[in-house]
Amino acid sequence: MQRFVYADNAGTTALSKTALEAMMPYLTEFYGNPSSIYSLGRKSKTAIETARQKIAAAIGAKAEEIYFTGGGSEADNWAIRSVVEKMSKKGRHIISTAIEHHAVLHTLKALEKQGCEVTYLPVDSYGQISLDELKDAIRDDTILITIMMANNEIGTILPIAEVSKIAKERGILVHTDAVQAVGHIPVDVDELGVDMLSLAAHKFRGPKGIGALYVRKGLFLPAYLTGGGQEKGRRAGTENVAGIVGMAAALEEAIANMDENIKKVTAMRDRLIENLLKIQFSRLTGDPVNRLPGTASFVFECIEGESLVLSLDAKGICASSGSACSSASLDPSHVLLAIGLPHEIAHGSLRLTINEDNTDEDIDYILAEVPPIIARLREMSPLWEDKINGKL
Ligand SMILES: Cc1ncc(COP(=O)(O)O)c(C=O)c1O
Repeated sequence: MQRFVYADNAGTTALSKTALEAMMPYLTEFYGNPSSIYSLGRKSKTAIETARQKIAAAIGAKAEEIYFTGGGSEADNWAIRSVVEKMSKKGRHIISTAIEHHAVLHTLKALEKQGCEVTYLPVDSYGQISLDELKDAIRDDTILITIMMANNEIGTILPIAEVSKIAKERGILVHTDAVQAVGHIPVDVDELGVDMLSLAAHKFRGPKGIGALYVRKGLFLPAYLTGGGQEKGRRAGTENVAGIVGMAAALEEAIANMDENIKKVTAMRDRLIENLLKIQFSRLTGDPVNRLPGTASFVFECIEGESLVLSLDAKGICASSGSACSSASLDPSHVLLAIGLPHEIAHGSLRLTINEDNTDEDIDYILAEVPPIIARLREMSPLWEDKINGKL
């Protein structure tokens, strides 16, 4: 039987058994509405508040600073849009980067149409920003700096604590999209010095469609969804009780095993990187050092990333080329263009993202399958002959 290897954990993860077991009672016998005052409802309410405490503890926050959302995109939208609403008297200038997830970038684009001005900091070939350029970009009317903690396509980890230090000197709020970081590397809101932080359960073996926004105590953000009084009146709607419980269980598990997971996953990632870089005309994308433990990302010249992903699928390997959200479009990824890759090379990207569910045998299998697929695709490429003859 053909092996199945899931190597797209930055896209989403399989639900952990611990999370599923924690969720089951809230999908079956404990179905009460958390707003109901009878005991079945109170059971759900208690589960939510216990989960809030666990999630807060996992990122060094207080329970009252955690607001549940429908995932990472909603948390990003809420943070950014509500700062614009709240701070409109001070100004409408926002600083971000060219490599943010579309949940941030498209939100900023929409706000630009409504009169906000946005400075998108460029990044270097590793996907790192320059702190001097950040300082230079700050204006008197800057209200928010929103910079991701770790990039979803190339795995680069950005210097958020330094960003916050600069922002604090100028009294500017900081939001970080930590969707790819939480559960994988240490995240502490005080060490990072951020005012808001987004996370999503399905990136750390929790369920899909549930996430959270951390909002520092004292920062009163306007309501995002109006209606009932849930989430202190800021995010109306009957809570996704099972999702919240599953998210807390998955995060607690990820934090308890983090050191061990980082060691195991980094070793597998490095084996992928070391061996796949032996392929002719290949490059690593992202920062070689400040990089997520599970992200091995590459570009291979004279290759179409989509063809590579489909060929790997035929061999039972789930991988991606660019981000999951942009894989429906044929444009090269904005992240790969931002790190300076030419269009034709950016098209040949491969992202393998592994986690603690993967094994050494998975890595052996990927390493056995990728090189012959690339060789076959290159044989079919009209560019390949020119490339090996030095004409390209
Ligand atoms: C960095 C980053 N931010 C935000 C999101 C969006 O999260 P969600 O799919 O939970 O809305 C993702 C998901 O891919 C992501 O990787």
